[in-house]
Amino acid sequence: MGTYAVTGSASGMGREAAEKLRAAGHTVIGVDLADAEVTADLSTPEGRRVAAGQVLDLADGRLDGAVLAAGLGPVPGRESVIARVNYLGVVELLRAWRVALAAAGNAKVVVLSSNSTTTTPAVPRRTVRALLAGDPDRAVRSVRLLGRAAAPMVYAGSKIALSHWVRRTAVLPDWAGSGIRLNALAPGAIRTPLLERQLADASAAKAVRSFPVPAGGYGEPAQLADWVVFMLSDSANFLVGSVVFVDGGSDAYFRAESWPRPVPFRGLARYLWRMRSFGAR
Ligand code: NAI
Repeated sequence: MGTYAVTGSASGMGREAAEKLRAAGHTVIGVDLADAEVTADLSTPEGRRVAAGQVLDLADGRLDGAVLAAGLGPVPGRESVIARVNYLGVVELLRAWRVALAAAGNAKVVVLSSNSTTTTPAVPRRTVRALLAGDPDRAVRSVRLLGRAAAPMVYAGSKIALSHWVRRTAVLPDWAGSGIRLNALAPGAIRTPLLERQLADASAAKAVRSFPVPAGGYGEPAQLADWVVFMLSDSANFLVGSVVFVDGGSDAYFRAESWPRPVPFRGLARYLWRMRSFGAR
């Protein structure tokens, strides 16, 4: 049986995933604002430092896996917290846990992304770039003139930056080469307290209800937790740097031709360079 760190373990998908892991006999070290083995506020540098350190202490320096589910939805006025929890609250913890994950030899990590990455139009590139550069203040400034649209932009931007970070990082020698399988799960609207709060707000509810979902309705947190558990299992040994969409078809509805796509002619030089540098490692 293994030891797993789960952030956002007190609610929604993180809670369901933690319960399923515990039911299978694993040890779960939950991280959340309350009701968790480690209570910490991932929106602050100190909270992230405490969370990273206490998990390592409780895990005795070896983690078989991690689920990064703590996060906020696109709540107007909370842009700064969204940027910090959704992006830094994942990336900083995983950097701190990398050695403990490598120590397990076959560790798996599932990061909660979102289908807002591909279905939110016109997310500024500079918002994503600022987050990837580790500058949440610049990310928030980049959308300050957008009024109520700022929060969805920071939310989608945080999940785009996170997905790009996952894909860049997953393939590195320190990660894939050290036996760690790092992937992201991108849900659509899932019936959790996060969604219930959106549905309780008239204008957010209108946007959620009118959003195209070919399968109809909402996903259930227990279904998404099954995907998480699967992505932590040996069946996922060959899954690296993937962003798995479980969203009732919204991404496919809007973006059927966006991916897969062949490498464009102007990307050939970079492609060939990557071919050569991989062989030289
Ligand atoms: P939830 O609101 O039910 O659970 C999120 C958990 O994160 C809560 O227990 C909360 O206390 C914790 N959290 C929030 N801020 C924190 C902080 N500063 N420090 C520590 N913990 C904090 O949300 P849900 O729906 O389970 O979401 C899980 C993840 O999935 C989030 O990253 C969310 O962005 C993502 N997601 C959710 C979707 C949905 O429709 N529910 C859709 C797509 C992605």
